[in-house]
Amino acid sequence: MKLITTPELGGLFQPQPFLRRANPIEYMEYRTLGNSGLKVSVLSFGAGTFGGTTEFFKAWGDTNVAEAKRIIDVCVDAGINLFDTADIYSNGASEEILGQALEGKRNNLLISTKATFRLSKDDPNAVGSSRYHLIRSIEGSLRRLRTDHVDIYHMHGFDATTPLEETLEALDTMVRSGKVRYIAASNFSGWHLMKSIAISERYGWARHVAHQVYYSLIGRDYESELMPLGVDQKVGALIWSPLGWGRLTGKVRRGQPLPEVSRLHKTGDVGPQVSNEYLYKVVDALDEVATETGKSVPQIALNWLLQRPTVSSLIVGARNEEQLKQNLGSTGWTLTPRQMKKLDAASSLPRPYPYWHQEGFGERNPFPV
Ligand SMILES: NC(=O)c1ccc[n+]([C@@H]2O[C@H](COP(=O)([O-])OP(=O)(O)OC[C@H]3O[C@@H](n4cnc5c(N)ncnc54)[C@H](OP(=O)(O)O)[C@@H]3O)[C@@H](O)[C@H]2O)c1
Repeated sequence: MKLITTPELGGLFQPQPFLRRANPIEYMEYRTLGNSGLKVSVLSFGAGTFGGTTEFFKAWGDTNVAEAKRIIDVCVDAGINLFDTADIYSNGASEEILGQALEGKRNNLLISTKATFRLSKDDPNAVGSSRYHLIRSIEGSLRRLRTDHVDIYHMHGFDATTPLEETLEALDTMVRSGKVRYIAASNFSGWHLMKSIAISERYGWARHVAHQVYYSLIGRDYESELMPLGVDQKVGALIWSPLGWGRLTGKVRRGQPLPEVSRLHKTGDVGPQVSNEYLYKVVDALDEVATETGKSVPQIALNWLLQRPTVSSLIVGARNEEQLKQNLGSTGWTLTPRQMKKLDAASSLPRPYPYWHQEGFGERNPFPV
């Protein structure tokens, strides 16, 4: 059993891995998701690339059913047991393709999907986390996914216009009726998540077991508030865009044009932003570690995340089988403490207030004497 210690947070996060021999990688590790009993593979697959029905999603990927079936076979052979999608991805086509591709294989595999973002321009209720919208959303997702239940149901974002009691009671009813197994948040602030947990606990309702968050070597904001909250409240992190929104692929480098096939041409201005200088500094460090280890840039970027506290699973994205197979090679080995330190140093940024003020609490007096 491997323990991930978090001395800097004063806590201990215990993922309890279960190892399973599989090809083409040596083993897949499974971690317990937050405060639940659910075991998820440390790599999961993100089906944002399935469909491609709009210009934005087409740039992300346009995987059809036949290709999706092959991709899912590769995932299953490697021991991946979690597949992530959302009602909004390609206007439902991602869920439809995932549902078709998983037919006959649903047993033992986990599906996570999401609701909250606007589904139609004409209907004021086709958005948010109201009981009305969520009930319609889950019914639509179940139909498109060709299943009778969703394993992890995320609130894709925080809806500040709906009372949290209404949202959480509706989600609890879904869990009790068997349509949803576990509930999760995504893209919440610390207080959104903490208030949600407190309300669930007050009423004895299902509580968020996971937080689907953006976290990467070029996006470490998660560490300031949400990671300590995850340790304290035992909320597992499902990491979206672990390659920094498709930037830590080894194809984006100082002095080189973006390759012709890169979603960043169309999606670079949406999603997490990063300065070129910072990105290149991190890529330089990744290149140095790649030379030392013989691993690729994406494999190293993913392995770094796997060693960080609270991380339950990385939702890997891949345009094709080749990228997927390479990303599968990010598990089964670990970067050395020195290599982790090098990557930490290249990617760390000054923290915003009050986090810089809290650093070293107990060891330093903030006022020089
Ligand atoms: N909750 C949320 O708000 C949220 C937001 C975003 C994503 N997500 C989830 O996270 C999943 C993954 O997100 P993401 O696709 O942005 O992840 P990512 O890992 O940051 O980027 C994946 C992209 O990087 C490139 N790539 C991946 N592996 C590569 C390799 N080995 N070599 C070269 N290029 C490689 C591909 O794009 P190119 O071929 O174009 O370079 C691929 O589409 C999504 O499918 C979705 O399920 C959730």
